[in-house]
Amino acid sequence: MWFKTVRLAGRDILPVFQGGMGVGISAHRLAGAVAREGAMGTIASIDLRHHHPDLVEVTENCKDRDIVDWANHVALDREIKQAKSLSEGNGLIAVNVMKAVRDHPALVRQACESGADVIVMGAGLPIDLPEMVQDYPSIGLVPILSEARGIAIVLKKWMKKGRLPDAIIIEHPAHAGGHLGATRLEDLRDGRFDFAGVIEQTQNLFHELGLGNNAPPLVLAGGIDSHEKVRHWLTCGAQGVQLGTAFAVTKEGDAHPNFKQVLLDAEPSDMTEFVSVAGLPARAVATRWLKSYKKSETRLANCAKADPRRCSQRADCLTQCGLRDGISKFGQFCIDLKLIAALRGEVDKGLFFRGAGKLPFGKTVRSVHELIDYLLNGHMPEPAV
Ligand SMILES: Cc1cc2nc3c(=O)[nH]c(=O)nc-3n(C[C@H](O)[C@H](O)[C@H](O)COP(=O)(O)O)c2cc1C
Repeated sequence: MWFKTVRLAGRDILPVFQGGMGVGISAHRLAGAVAREGAMGTIASIDLRHHHPDLVEVTENCKDRDIVDWANHVALDREIKQAKSLSEGNGLIAVNVMKAVRDHPALVRQACESGADVIVMGAGLPIDLPEMVQDYPSIGLVPILSEARGIAIVLKKWMKKGRLPDAIIIEHPAHAGGHLGATRLEDLRDGRFDFAGVIEQTQNLFHELGLGNNAPPLVLAGGIDSHEKVRHWLTCGAQGVQLGTAFAVTKEGDAHPNFKQVLLDAEPSDMTEFVSVAGLPARAVATRWLKSYKKSETRLANCAKADPRRCSQRADCLTQCGLRDGISKFGQFCIDLKLIAALRGEVDKGLFFRGAGKLPFGKTVRSVHELIDYLLNGHMPEPAV
């Protein structure tokens, strides 16, 4: 075996991680299949009720955010338990919680109570994550960051609380899909995010802090699309790699087949970047809805107005929402409705997050097993007949 396993939350796992993908794109089927292979599968915790018809029935048109929160906690509990069962005791089941989500402390608590092995937190600095899991000392904690400055801040704050991250995901904003770790669109390709530089600065920081053998493994995310890249980074200072898009389009991916087709068919020229309602830059496929939204972005920004009724579902999913809070420099659309439409395969209405890179198997849907085998061992499966 040319690669080393990664020690995380008391287990030795394969160095390929599956990134959390909301809404509903990485739920129990995908995360469970990845864990079964001996790797870390990640359930995205946001708005999982949409995979559960009974919970959708209770919450549709209810406009009561406490009921929506309750339904999402029930859904997360079910998804974790189903993923664990599919994993057959192998690998790890992680739960991705976005800091920008209003209900993030309760989602973290639910993930712990339902038996998740690891909490992964991004979309904001997860400074207070250690306090949120105080009663669960064995749960793994993994922040998602993009640059050495953010890593230094989180590490130093956590060390004061007597906690170290169990791994750090370093996500490159020029390549990854979904919300990105730069504050401005103009900065996405800034040199400070280059993997080689971030690895070097982080290793220097670990040295300065005297972490020695306790230094957390570094996991690179964004644009990892071939066995060669996996080999390169695992021999150049990283201990793991995380992929999103390539897992979203696997046979076991939890989204509608149309969702996978949109991602598979997208050419580099079809990719676009914009500022989401959470105020973060994001990357997605320029589908019909997104193209027309971008055309009217300035007009909508000029009409921005703080009004709770603009949250049509009254779910208040985000702590700060450009649409509800009238923040003109943030996006002006309901991200939840758009991501749910994508999950359901509504090609004209949905928002389809995708990384910028190519896919390892071109336009072919393959299994999680084939993807991990290719990434780690370079085995390209036989062409489908
Ligand atoms: C459809 C989609 C949804 C995503 N949703 C989330 C999310 O909810 N939380 C998160 O931390 N990252 C999210 N990501 C980022 C992925 O977890 C992963 O880090 C990233 O896509 C890696 O880049 P790659 O797609 O080039 O492999 C999403 C990515 C995609 C493609």
